[in-house]
Amino acid sequence: MEKGCADQYPKVCQNLKNYDIFHKIMVLKIPIFDGFQNKKTIRTMKVTVVGAGAVGASCAEYIAIKDFTSEVVLLDIKEGYAEGKAMDLMQTASLNGFDTKITGTTNDYSKTAGSDIAVITSGIPRKPGMTREELIGINAGIVKTVAENLLKHSPNTIIIVVSNPMDTMTYLVHKATDLPKHRIIGMGGALDSARFKYRLAEALEAPISDIDGMVIGGHSDKGMVPLIAHATRNSIKVAEFLDEEKMDWVVQETKVGGATLTKLLGTSAWYAPGAAVSSLVQAIACDQKKMFPCSTYLEGEYGLQDICIGVPVILGKNGIEKVVEIELSDAEKAKLTESAQGVSNTNGLLEV
Ligand SMILES: NC(=O)c1ccc[n+]([C@@H]2O[C@H](COP(=O)([O-])OP(=O)(O)OC[C@H]3O[C@@H](n4cnc5c(N)ncnc54)[C@H](O)[C@@H]3O)[C@@H](O)[C@H]2O)c1
Repeated sequence: MEKGCADQYPKVCQNLKNYDIFHKIMVLKIPIFDGFQNKKTIRTMKVTVVGAGAVGASCAEYIAIKDFTSEVVLLDIKEGYAEGKAMDLMQTASLNGFDTKITGTTNDYSKTAGSDIAVITSGIPRKPGMTREELIGINAGIVKTVAENLLKHSPNTIIIVVSNPMDTMTYLVHKATDLPKHRIIGMGGALDSARFKYRLAEALEAPISDIDGMVIGGHSDKGMVPLIAHATRNSIKVAEFLDEEKMDWVVQETKVGGATLTKLLGTSAWYAPGAAVSSLVQAIACDQKKMFPCSTYLEGEYGLQDICIGVPVILGKNGIEKVVEIELSDAEKAKLTESAQGVSNTNGLLEV
């Protein structure tokens, strides 16, 4: 049943409203007119996150802190692990001011029943020096079984795939289930774009809030296509401020963003991946119609067939509501085609 945000989450809406009013009076010093800007429609939401490891727990934490959904279930195969993470996170609720209920379960999918959105983060992460593609042998079996188990208990769920190699895992879920393509979403581009913006802000010596930019293509060191020619600082193309050498640096650092962190941390990163997933979940839960680059099954868009790869999509309550086809230069098209070839090669290793 659809309900207004203010009806369902009065505390959050009131806090947002109080902040907004305070900001208008104290900072902007303008008269108050609330208009309709805080009116969003959201549904009572149950979100399951499979894999209570680094990325899964971070994702659950950001979803809870943003406080837009009623329930998050963490599931892990490791005995007691998801229960422990859930309890630890719940003990932050009074400190961080959220009401989302987080529970954990050891591999009991009945506890995930009726999930509106399910996130798959289960599987192994890469170690320093490894590529994401090298994880396929172990992760394919895990992701396929997890997707099947989720759908037994939540036949209407929207699945967000995070486990790597993500584009191939998204394709695997597409081939292994009969879910319509708008309900299978691969998360990679939202993270890569956040890393792109981080590097752009660094190069421009500007605040990140000034920056906009997007990364499409495969979620791999070689396959990412940061759209540098489209990136802007406060609506002005970054090429106005950066020379070729600086722009090449931004592109290269973006593409190896995950590998850089894996080298520093000894395993793959979790804060930005968790935040990126939570943004996709929020866009769906709150029917925001926001545009993100996501891995989706293509049937001719961008000249690509029978592949899941990152392209701009609109996310709303139905999952992927539209694939957005933007005008690419010949060089960008060539990079996307090359990236798709790499993803197809990895898909060829699947046994489906
Ligand atoms: N798409 C992206 O942008 C992105 C970003 C970061 C990490 N990742 C990927 O996400 C995955 C998770 O990374 P992490 O750092 O959280 O790893 P992690 O090892 O910290 O957590 C993985 C968890 O999955 C659990 N698991 C394994 N098999 C399972 C099963 N069959 N059912 C339920 N749970 C199971 C493990 O017990 C573990 O707790 C990796 O494949 C990693 O490469 C993707």
